[in-house]
Amino acid sequence: MKIYIVEDYQQLSAKAASIVASQVILKNNAVLGLATGSTPEGMYSQLAQMNREGKVDFSEVVTFNLDEYLGLSPDHPQSYHYFMHHHFFNHVNVSPRNIHIPLGQAKNIAEFCLEYEQKITEAGGIDLQVLGIGANGHIGFNEPHTYLKLQTHAIDLTEETIEANSRFFFSPEEVPRQAVTMGMGSIMKAQRILLLASGKNKAPVIKETVSGKITTELPASFLQLHRDCTLILDKEAAALL
Ligand code: F6R
Repeated sequence: MKIYIVEDYQQLSAKAASIVASQVILKNNAVLGLATGSTPEGMYSQLAQMNREGKVDFSEVVTFNLDEYLGLSPDHPQSYHYFMHHHFFNHVNVSPRNIHIPLGQAKNIAEFCLEYEQKITEAGGIDLQVLGIGANGHIGFNEPHTYLKLQTHAIDLTEETIEANSRFFFSPEEVPRQAVTMGMGSIMKAQRILLLASGKNKAPVIKETVSGKITTELPASFLQLHRDCTLILDKEAAALL
């Protein structure tokens, strides 16, 4: 793992944006795996600015998002569809036909998941996968468990994740109990992985991710096995390293 420790969230966002932009500059039709959550918001805003200034062109880029809540319609303000358009896609020249986000309302979820995996394969696989990390070690919505699934699948969210994500809803009861997520195999097959973590509540899980046991009880620990995984951490998230 390559680890960059930066001063604060502002620097984390700038560094992450420059890594994503350089991937797109190197390969204009790059396939990007994208995450939602608070952590990458600053990166998306910086990428949008670089796009406005003509420094990076997303017209040929293909995107695949990691996950989506089951049951939420794409226009629900807490859906990840809404998040991605609001924070990123509406502000850059990405082509709508190149955007892929798991559909939380798919009629046949199992079939949808298979098709999602096929689309990633047909696109040539993911060049750069951006990840956040849950305080419980989840990546995407691959939650700690006795086993993990390889491919895109539906999953029950843990109480910890429901609680953590309730900050975006009016109450914890409103948080969907299930999600669709790329699997561990979908993530680990990416050519490059870029994981972002900010804040002191992520410090313990970052320590375990970097130097703890590789275990399904901490899905992010599998990133130790990836041959090109970069972590960008602010000082608080890196405090226990
Ligand atoms: C979101 C995702 C999640 C988040 C994680 C951290 O698409 O895949 O794994 O990255 O829950 O969320 P934040 O950044 O809000 O702490």
